Amino acid sequence: MAVNLTSLQVMQDAPVIPVIVLNDVAHAVPMARALLAGGIRMLEITLRTPQALACMEAIANEVEGAVVGAGTVRSPADAAAAVKAGARFAVSPGFTPAVGQACKDLGLPLLPGVASGSEIMMAQEEGYTQLKFFPAMQAGGPAMLKAWSGPFFDVKFCPTGGVTQANAADFLSLPNVACVGGSWLVPADAMAQGDWKRIETLARQASQLPR
Ligand code: 3PG
Repeated sequence: MAVNLTSLQVMQDAPVIPVIVLNDVAHAVPMARALLAGGIRMLEITLRTPQALACMEAIANEVEGAVVGAGTVRSPADAAAAVKAGARFAVSPGFTPAVGQACKDLGLPLLPGVASGSEIMMAQEEGYTQLKFFPAMQAGGPAMLKAWSGPFFDVKFCPTGGVTQANAADFLSLPNVACVGGSWLVPADAMAQGDWKRIETLARQASQLPR
């Protein structure tokens, strides 16, 4: 794996980028190892809990082969903190030019979130053509992506939000979808119970999705 990733490499590594919420640093390393064992190594740790940065750091330092990313990046400060904690890519729920510029300055590949044509155009103006479609199911699902494939023929998407093992193939079969994102690989109850085998199985099923 190259030292400096591109956002396309992040999207193309596996069919699914897991969206991970960690409340306990002790869960970070075994959870990451389970995902890796199941064939998923691009790991989006969301900046939604006080433990998120420490979890990123633990995975980056201790889990060989894992590529730590930061999710829920909403400000330049989030991006800077994520890089300091070992993040090698970022995902944001929306897009602002300030977050886009901060990630460029940090050399951090970013998948900015969009949900409308105007947002896609704004992200493209800042040089971003690999985008997260969020929230995918709520904002139009596969039909929306089909409609965008005409005017935005040069954009690749990672739909996230309401995507599951059952509907992922509806997205992955579209030519403008490079991968999907979702939290289903890392259920909160499996994490709380330390059921790493279940997480490994979910990751394996996800990594085998056709695209
Ligand atoms: C995200 O945080 O990107 C989404 O909320 C993940 O959505 P999901 O929980 O429906 O997979």
